[in-house]
Amino acid sequence: MTNVSDAFETMDYGPAPEASERVDAWLAGHDRAFGHWIGGGWVEGSGGRFPALRPSDGSTLAQLAQATPAEVDRAVKAAREAQSRWRDLAPHRRARHLYALARGIQRNARLFAVLESMDNGKPIRESRDLDVPLVARHFLHHAGWAQLIDSEPELRDMEGVGVVGQVIPWNFPLLMLAWKVAPALAAGCTVVLKPAEHTSLTALRFAELTREVGLPDGVFNLVTGDGRVGAALVEHEGIDKVAFTGSTEVGRIIREATAGSGKRLSLELGGKSPFVVFDDADLDSVVEGVVDAIWFNQGEVCCAGSRILAHEGIAPRLIDKLRARMERLRMGDPLDKTVDMGAIVAPVQLERIRSLVAQGEAEGATVWQPSWAAPEEGWFYPPTLCTDVAPASTLAQVEVFGPVVSLMTFRTPAEAVELANDTRYGLAASVWTENVNLALDVAPAIKAGTVWVNCSNLFDAAAGFGGTRESGYGREGGIEGLREYLRPRWERHAAIRDAESEAALMATPEPVDAAAESRSAIDRTPKHYIGGRQTRPDAEASMVVRDRTGAAIAEVPRGNRKDVRNAVEAALRAQPGWAARTAHNRAQILYYLAENLALRADEIASRLQGWHRAAEPARQEVETTLERLFTYAAWADKWDGRVHGTPFRNVTLAMPEPLGVVGVVAPAEAPLLGLVSCVAPLIAMGNAVVAVPSPGFPLAAVDLYQLLDTSDVSGGVVNFVLGLREEVVPPLASHDAVDGLWAFADPNTCAEIERLSVGNMKRLWTSGGRVRNWGDRAHGEGPEFLHEAVQVKNVWVPYGE
Ligand code: NAI
Repeated sequence: MTNVSDAFETMDYGPAPEASERVDAWLAGHDRAFGHWIGGGWVEGSGGRFPALRPSDGSTLAQLAQATPAEVDRAVKAAREAQSRWRDLAPHRRARHLYALARGIQRNARLFAVLESMDNGKPIRESRDLDVPLVARHFLHHAGWAQLIDSEPELRDMEGVGVVGQVIPWNFPLLMLAWKVAPALAAGCTVVLKPAEHTSLTALRFAELTREVGLPDGVFNLVTGDGRVGAALVEHEGIDKVAFTGSTEVGRIIREATAGSGKRLSLELGGKSPFVVFDDADLDSVVEGVVDAIWFNQGEVCCAGSRILAHEGIAPRLIDKLRARMERLRMGDPLDKTVDMGAIVAPVQLERIRSLVAQGEAEGATVWQPSWAAPEEGWFYPPTLCTDVAPASTLAQVEVFGPVVSLMTFRTPAEAVELANDTRYGLAASVWTENVNLALDVAPAIKAGTVWVNCSNLFDAAAGFGGTRESGYGREGGIEGLREYLRPRWERHAAIRDAESEAALMATPEPVDAAAESRSAIDRTPKHYIGGRQTRPDAEASMVVRDRTGAAIAEVPRGNRKDVRNAVEAALRAQPGWAARTAHNRAQILYYLAENLALRADEIASRLQGWHRAAEPARQEVETTLERLFTYAAWADKWDGRVHGTPFRNVTLAMPEPLGVVGVVAPAEAPLLGLVSCVAPLIAMGNAVVAVPSPGFPLAAVDLYQLLDTSDVSGGVVNFVLGLREEVVPPLASHDAVDGLWAFADPNTCAEIERLSVGNMKRLWTSGGRVRNWGDRAHGEGPEFLHEAVQVKNVWVPYGE
C-alpha cells in the first residue's frame, strides 16, 4: 500500500475496480447458461454449447447455445408472425416502446456496462461513458423517428421492409445492437439478431429487457452461435432485409449468398482510415486524437484511425510526443476505472494482430512499443506505433483491428489526399489543422463516409455512419439510416413481372443477319452514344427493331464488352467535372433539356406510338417525361443535405455526394419515360451514367441523345450502349470502375446482376421484377430515387464553445 507522500511522488493511480456483483448474480440466476430468445421468451438450444470467455483472464463467464437451422427458422417465423401487427401499430405507440427501451437501458446502465467490459475486455470507462449512453441515445433518437415517421414528408409514403436479419460483430456488442435494432423497430420492422459468438451476453440481457418493458412478443428475436448461424439467418427465405456489420470478407460472402434473393442489404465493413496531420496542427491535441483514434477500444474499431499521415516537417516531433504518451497509457483489468486499454476480445484476434505486426516488421517497418509490459494473464496487446511503413505494405493496407498504428509522411496537401485514398476502403478519416480552409478543402476530396475535423471517433444517433468502396454501403443513424429499413408503401402490393413476360414485352429483336429484311426498308441506323458522340459499335453485329405491326424500322448496334468498357471510361473522365459544376448549373441544363423535348414533343410522340402505343398514352409519355425533367431540374439544388445537431462541440454536415459512375438497366416498358426517370435524378446529383436502354424499344435513347447533343450536358456524362441485355449487362454489372448500379428488370436479370456485381461491392438498387407504373409519381420519381443517387458524407466540424 502506498502512502500519501509516495503517491504524490509517483503520481501513480491505485486500482479502482468496478463492482461485478450484479453481473455475477444475473449470470448465476441463469445458471450461467443461455438459450435463444424467440417469440418473447427463452428457448433452450438443441445444437450444442460453447463458452463465453472473459478476455482479461480467459475464464468462462457462461455457456451459450449454437443455434440449429430449425431454431433460426423458428425465430424468423416468430418475427414474421409479429410483423404486420408491429408495422400497423400507430407510430406513437411504437415511439413509446422505443422510449421504454431507452429508459430501460438507462436504468440498467451499470449492469450493461460491467457485463460488456467483462465479456468484451473493453475498459469500463469506455463502456460506462461511451457505449451504454450512446445505446440509450439511439433508442431515444429513434423513438423520435417512430413518432415523426408519418409527418416527415420524405418518409410518410413509406413503411418497414418487413422481417430483418441482423448480424453484428464483437467490438461494440451492445452498441451495434442498438444501431441496428433501434431504426428497424422505429421503421416498423421485426428483427432476428445474431450477436457475435465472442460477445453475446449484453444482447441476451437486452432480450430480457424487451420483455420487462413490454415490447410485443416476436418483435425482437435473438439466436446465438457462430458464422454458420449467421449464414443460416441471412439465407433464410423469410428474411426481407439483411443488415451486417463485420469484416469485408464476410460482407462479400453475405452479398454472394443473398444475390438473387431480392433481399435488401446494408453492409458496414472494414476500414483503414487515414488520420491526416498538417504542419500547423496543434500537436498536443493531435496526440490525444491519436489515443482516441487507435487506442480507444484496443483499436478494435472499424473506423480506427490506423494510418497516421503526417506532414514531413512535424513527423519527428509527433513521433516523440506519441511515444511519450504511449509510455503513460495504462493497460490492465477492464473493470479498473483507471485503465485506458483493456484486453483483446479473443485469442484468435490476438494471434491475428501479432502475425500482421510480424509481417509488417519483416517487410521493413520499425515497430515501437512502450517499455512497460502488458499483463501476462489474459489476452493483451500493447499500443504499437509503426514507422518506415511503405504505402503498399501490409501495415499500410490491411486492417489489423488492434492497437497498431502506422505512420507515413507527405509533403503537400495533394499528396496527403492521394495517400489517404490509397486504400480499398472508404469508411472514415480525420483531418488535423488549424486552418479551416485547408480542412474544408481536403474533407470533400477524401473518399470516406465520415470525416472528422480536429476530432476522431465521434458518433451520434443523429449522424449517419457508413462507408463507401469496400467499406460497404448504407448508413446507420439519422434519417439516412432509417431509410435503409423503409420501402415505398406501394411495393407491398406490387405485381412481379417474370422473365418470360418481360421478354415478350421487350420483343427482343432478332439478329439482323437472320432477318430477311431488305435494308432499304430501314430508315434509321442509330449508334451507341459514348463520350458525347454517336459511336460505331466495336463489332459489326447489329439487330433489327420492329414496330408494333412487325415491320422493321431500324437496325441498331448489338453492343459488346468493349463498347461497355469505352462507355465506362468516358463516364469516368466526365464525372468529376460534372460533379464540380454548381447545382444551379445542372438544374439549368435539365430545364433546357426539357425545353428541347417540348419543341420535338409531337414528333417523338408519334414515333413512340408507332412502336408500341396507342396515340394518347404516347403523347402522355412524352408529356410526363418532360415533367420529370422539370422535377429533377427542381431537385438538383434542393436535395442538399442537413446539419445534424450532434451533442459535442460540433456541427455535423451531412453532405450528399454523387456515387460516381452509375450503370442503369432501364425498364423494358415506357422506353422514354423509364429511361429519363433513371438518368435524370442521377445526373441531377452529379453522377455520370452508362445506361442500357430498353432493348425492345432502344430508339427512345436515340431521341434522347439527339436532345443531349444539343444541350450543355458534357460529353461522357450520359452514355448509352444499345444491344441485347444478356450481352451488355454482364460487363457493366461486373465492371470495377462502376460505383453503383440501378436495374429495373425481371427477377432473373436482377439476380444475375446481384451476382455479377459482388467484385467491387458496388452499391445496388434492383427492382426484383416489381412492376412500376412510371407515369405515377409515387412509383416513378422523388426522394426514393434521389436517395439512391447519392451517398451521404458526414463532416464533423468544431463549432461553438
Ligand atoms: P466476422 O466478420 O467474421 O464476424 C462478424 C459477424 O459475422 C459475427 O457475428 C459472425 O458470427 C458473423 N459471420 C461470420 N461468418 C458469417 C457468414 N458466412 N454469414 C453470416 N454471418 C457470418 O469478423 P471476425 O472473424 O470476428 O473478425 C475477423 C476480422 O474482421 C477482424 O480481425 C477485423 O479485421 C474484421 N472485423 C471488422 C469489423 C467491423 O466492424 N468492420 C467487426 C469485426 C471484425
